[in-house]
Amino acid sequence: MNTVLRITTSIMGEDSVSSMLMDELLANLAAQKTLEIIERDFAKQSIPHLDGPWLAALSAGEADRNLQQQEKAAFSDQLIAELQGADILVIGLPMYNFSLPSMLKAWLDHIARAGLTFKYTENGTVGLLKGKKVFLVTAMGGIHETLTTDFLRPYMKHILGFVGLIDVEFITANGLNMGPELREKGLADARNQIINVASNREQEIAA
Ligand SMILES: Cc1cc2nc3c(=O)[nH]c(=O)nc-3n(C[C@H](O)[C@H](O)[C@H](O)COP(=O)(O)O)c2cc1C
Repeated sequence: MNTVLRITTSIMGEDSVSSMLMDELLANLAAQKTLEIIERDFAKQSIPHLDGPWLAALSAGEADRNLQQQEKAAFSDQLIAELQGADILVIGLPMYNFSLPSMLKAWLDHIARAGLTFKYTENGTVGLLKGKKVFLVTAMGGIHETLTTDFLRPYMKHILGFVGLIDVEFITANGLNMGPELREKGLADARNQIINVASNREQEIAA
């Protein structure tokens, strides 16, 4: 059995394309291996910004935290524990204003913690999350493939690599808001990518 952490970040609810494609990806992966799915849906529970009081809570020694600080630290610790416990991470990745949903940035700020998900060394930082597969299910209104306007995928690849998550695959639906024909093409391309990554995964499991 594989434990999957599924992170839903869209603000579009039932109309979310990234959520729909995540469902399809997970159905394909579940056909190969039993999955236990842990869900984190930002529409159901907001991820608070890592503000000053939050940082103070995390920086304080455990014994010195007041009740509010204990709650803040426990929330961040829970996000990290979910990530550490997962074999596979599936993140819905809508492009909003050329970048990532702000609550996903907040989630990343919570899980990037020195000593737990990365460490400092004399040669720079080292990611501590090892051996996990990551699928980033991206949905974009436009087509950014040949432009310099995609600040979403390069950033995600970098920050995930920073915490050690280097086995990252993108599934991308482009052109969703560019009329019915391009939308259909974008969805069909994404579905082909899902079939390909699921087939690759099947081979990895068999090897
Ligand atoms: C607030 C907002 C900002 C958006 N900004 C962009 C953008 O900068 N570039 C783009 O190509 N599409 C943009 N879109 C379109 C979304 O990428 C598209 O609707 C996609 O389906 C979002 O994924 P979702 O359906 O899973 O939420 C934006 C949509 C919203 C709601």
